[in-house]
Amino acid sequence: MIETIESFHIDFHQLIENSLNSIFILGEEGKIYYCNKASLKLLKLTSFEEILHNSLYNFIPTYIHVVCKERLNNVLHKQQAIDYIEAQMIRKDGEIIDVEVKTTPLKMGEEYYAQVVIQDITNRKLAMRLLHEKERLASLGQMAASIVHEVKNPLTTVKGFLQLLKRDHPHEYLNTVDSELDKALSILHSLLFVSKPDLLEEPLLEIDVSKKIESTVLLFQDKQDYVNLILDIKDAGRKIEGKRNSLLKAFFNLIKNAIEAISEKGTITIEHYYQNGWIHVKVTDTGIGVAEEQLRMLGTPFFSTKEKGTGLGLTQVYATIYDHGGDICVQSELGKGTTFHVKLPTK
Ligand SMILES: Nc1ncnc2c1ncn2[C@@H]1O[C@H](COP(=O)(O)OP(=O)(O)OP(=O)(O)O)[C@@H](O)[C@H]1O
Ligand SMILES: [Mg+2]
Repeated sequence: MIETIESFHIDFHQLIENSLNSIFILGEEGKIYYCNKASLKLLKLTSFEEILHNSLYNFIPTYIHVVCKERLNNVLHKQQAIDYIEAQMIRKDGEIIDVEVKTTPLKMGEEYYAQVVIQDITNRKLAMRLLHEKERLASLGQMAASIVHEVKNPLTTVKGFLQLLKRDHPHEYLNTVDSELDKALSILHSLLFVSKPDLLEEPLLEIDVSKKIESTVLLFQDKQDYVNLILDIKDAGRKIEGKRNSLLKAFFNLIKNAIEAISEKGTITIEHYYQNGWIHVKVTDTGIGVAEEQLRMLGTPFFSTKEKGTGLGLTQVYATIYDHGGDICVQSELGKGTTFHVKLPTK
């Protein structure tokens, strides 16, 4: 047993080598002179040869190169420490991760180098974003639930009296009133369920998402004349724990939107693969795309640009994915197409 810290020799090299933080020593142009084991793990590399004497920029998305170069120059030439910045890095397998970076100058001999400590904050950022999204949907859900409650009761009374009216004073217009009233009631029902998915008491089952996608695609066979539907399924057989009907409906809504976005001929590609504990599903269409100012509206109840759309399809999708502990993001370009990227956690 060690009595005091002075009583034994601290092996500083071991301390850094086995540190839980990723530590790099960089020179001009981001050249890597040293990195520890945690750095290899961070970037999913297997050997030091893959990284030493390379530039760290090879592992950083190009859109932040300019900022990184400016900061590195400040560290190397002006000896300015950089307290904390958030950035992104690219792993060997292509996955992009969010990182927190601290940099400080390090003098070795006559030269200055940059000591860089990097921490993976992908999960923390994801958790914060999901919490924010969940809160947004939960407050919308509560509002929707109370509106549904207030509006449904009087409408149900109207429906009752309408039946009496139809019996005592039949008139052809009354059938139209009746069917429109039914539509209104059914929208209220769907709003209630999509806004509060936990109301749907579906059992949790082991689900192979790839199978659900395959069966959903079958429902769109009649569209094959003008829409080329491509299925790219990898890692079939991986299971998640989820609610079968909710997930089927979510994929149905995504594919339906993709089809509706294609006015003449086009292609829809549906990819399924497993990566690092998540099942990924990407639905990409070559349709009309979404305008940038409308992107943040997606998922909001009743947001629709379609003449007959309810604007509840994506609300159901977002609510279901979040209910499963997953994440969804969208990329789109007007006139080119849209990709919805869904991630669902495996057990
Ligand atoms: N793949 C897509 N391409 C282009 N726009 C899309 C796509 N998916 C959704 N949108 C836009 O998002 C809006 C909301 O979609 P959502 O599915 O919630 O409702 P909707 O499709 O309009 O109506 P409903 O789903 O009830 O038929 C759409 O009206 C459309 O403007
Ligand atoms: Mg829709």
